Amino acid sequence: MVQILCSVEDVSDDEPLQVKLTDGHAVAVYRWEGKFYCTDDLCTHGDASLAEGYVEDGEIICPFHLGSFCIKSGAPRTAPCSEPIATYAVTEKDGNLLIDR
Ligand code: FES
Repeated sequence: MVQILCSVEDVSDDEPLQVKLTDGHAVAVYRWEGKFYCTDDLCTHGDASLAEGYVEDGEIICPFHLGSFCIKSGAPRTAPCSEPIATYAVTEKDGNLLIDR
């Protein structure tokens, strides 16, 4: 089901955004190098919101233990993260960001 996440202007390079989908599932939306990305918000290592972390050199840095994931693939990059994070393709339409989930 295609869902609107937010407006393009709601996400900045410095501040990922947590969005709750219609079923209550939380995702994090990121802007990096002019493109938008979306992953599950919950870190696969622990009870951390990745939207409270930040992006550096194409990696999502978790705010709890500073483990990281590839922003494009969700693959774990830095310990203690070892399980990938789910990613969702983001499309832009009429100034909004959408995912199909
Ligand atoms: Fe994310 Fe530990 S909870 S790295």
